[in-house]
Amino acid sequence: MDIAFATGNNGKITEAKKILECFKVHIIQKDIKLIEPRSDSLEKIAIEKAKQACEILKNPVIVEDSGLFIKSLNDFPGTYSHIIYDKISDSGILKLMQDVKNRSAIFMAVVAFASPKIEPITFNGEQKGTISFESKGSGGFGFDPIFIPGYETQTWAENPQLKAISSHRKIALEKFAEWAKDNI
Ligand code: IMP
Repeated sequence: MDIAFATGNNGKITEAKKILECFKVHIIQKDIKLIEPRSDSLEKIAIEKAKQACEILKNPVIVEDSGLFIKSLNDFPGTYSHIIYDKISDSGILKLMQDVKNRSAIFMAVVAFASPKIEPITFNGEQKGTISFESKGSGGFGFDPIFIPGYETQTWAENPQLKAISSHRKIALEKFAEWAKDNI
């Protein structure tokens, strides 16, 4: 099955292709301009962007909205992760957390599927972890060099295999693929 994925983020596409290939779902990237609404809800943002993408493409499409929610920073950068990464990147987050002992954080993703025939439907995934004290590794993208999943000791950027086994994106996309088998 072919499915359009509206995003300009090549990192998301590389991961999504690997995650979905064993479900025989083939991703076709659509790098189209979507207006991101302001909201504290990834789900609301994903639904709104999926509606826009479907309107533009006139075809079924998925979008994914994700973010890093850091407990001691009151869930910052959260739904603003994209813009914050562009402005201060992972080194800026480490500066904000210089003297912070509680390093707990969660990566969350919401995949929204929209089609001209049905209302958007969403699938979510999350991965708990901690923020490292220094930036480590060169794999992946975004905040991967400062995110240590679960009780591991390496960041996702140091050990991309940890991310391939379990990530917020993998969980959300696998839920979508299971649903798509019977519904698309
Ligand atoms: P958006 O989903 O396009 O709004 O962007 C979410 C932002 O969160 C990305 O630009 C990254 O900075 C960050 N992000 C989302 N998922 C990941 C991930 O798997 N690894 C590292 N950073 C991520």
